[in-house]
Amino acid sequence: MAAEASDDAFVVFERVQKSYDGETLVVKDLNLSIGKGEFLTMLGPSGSGKTTCLMMLAGFETATHGDIRLGGVSINNIPPHKRGIGMVFQNYALFPHMTVAENLSFPLEVRGMDKATREEKVKRALDMVQMGEFGGRRPAQLSGGQQQRIALARALVFEPELVLMDEPLGALDKQLREHMQFEIKHLHERLGITVVYVTHDQTEALTMSDRVAVFNDGVIQQLDPPDVLYEEPQNSFVAQFIGENNTLEGTIEAIENGIARVRLDHGELIDAVPVNVNKVGERTRVSIRPERVEYNPERMPPDAHTVRAEVLEFIYMGDIYRTRLNVAGNENFIIKTRNAPDQRRLKPGEVIEVGWRPQDCRALDA
Ligand SMILES: Nc1ncnc2c1ncn2[C@@H]1O[C@H](COP(=O)(O)OP(=O)(O)OP(=O)(O)O)[C@@H](O)[C@H]1O
Ligand SMILES: [Mg+2]
Repeated sequence: MAAEASDDAFVVFERVQKSYDGETLVVKDLNLSIGKGEFLTMLGPSGSGKTTCLMMLAGFETATHGDIRLGGVSINNIPPHKRGIGMVFQNYALFPHMTVAENLSFPLEVRGMDKATREEKVKRALDMVQMGEFGGRRPAQLSGGQQQRIALARALVFEPELVLMDEPLGALDKQLREHMQFEIKHLHERLGITVVYVTHDQTEALTMSDRVAVFNDGVIQQLDPPDVLYEEPQNSFVAQFIGENNTLEGTIEAIENGIARVRLDHGELIDAVPVNVNKVGERTRVSIRPERVEYNPERMPPDAHTVRAEVLEFIYMGDIYRTRLNVAGNENFIIKTRNAPDQRRLKPGEVIEVGWRPQDCRALDA
């Protein structure tokens, strides 16, 4: 659910719509308020409208409808170079013919700063990303991760209040990407800047953000801090998109005292939290996280419902065991258990009882 625009927010999208062709809306009635100093991530599948939102905020695209405000002022009234927005894009587009120092100096020149000030700021920005020694090199003489850090330094060198980053780590290998995630997060904390970050990598979104806006088809499906998003998805799209999930399909048989009784298509009756279902007879997808499923009778929560399951596959992953089961006809029902000394390894062919607390089981739209 999109938050309502509030007056003390730093960035506000109010009822924003965007169409490129005058027919289809790629951003639909978007309401979003971002606080000063916040790290907000737009997360969503390809084509869901993330870059479009960032482009409108940067001033490279105009909204077809609605209003975008920055520090209380409608963005249409602020010329792009006065918006104080730093930007980092996926392909980091450093100017290839300029040295690193010249690349960083450029946004300062555009803003009319004198040479001494520029030199000082460039040095400080390079030190910040631990690239102080590299001022004289050209981009082609740097590794991908080093170029990425320079792009980051260039976006921050003129001390913007707001930094927009569109998939800035997309081109990096896993290890460097994780390193840069923490680096960006620490810079954000240290400098107190407001960051609007775009990614389609959900792990990246969860680890870096204060809040995550999950986009689909031009609409924010849910806007929440990472833990709320993961533990309390508000609809099936979010439950499927964030993290791994087991789904069982069924029909609502009763809703009483905040508990939905769901008759699974396979026949079992289970309890679940009714999230966005409200009628008896309604179809539902029940979702349960793999790490909330228990099979060890000694660890089974007292209020757990148990269901019969057949073990199909056991995968040893080092820190965890990942076991694939057939539960109520779903042959892709995954459970994850910590590799603890007293944890038993399940064997394919075994028939067991699995269970979970009703509050870990969410009845969502079908
Ligand atoms: N300049 C443009 N002209 C016409 N259509 C466009 C333009 N830019 C984007 N679109 C369309 O708008 C929709 C949203 O695109 P957008 O780039 O905002 O998606 P995205 O969420 O950033 O996706 P990705 O994760 O692939 O980068 C897509 O259907 C895209 O084809
Ligand atoms: Mg994009």
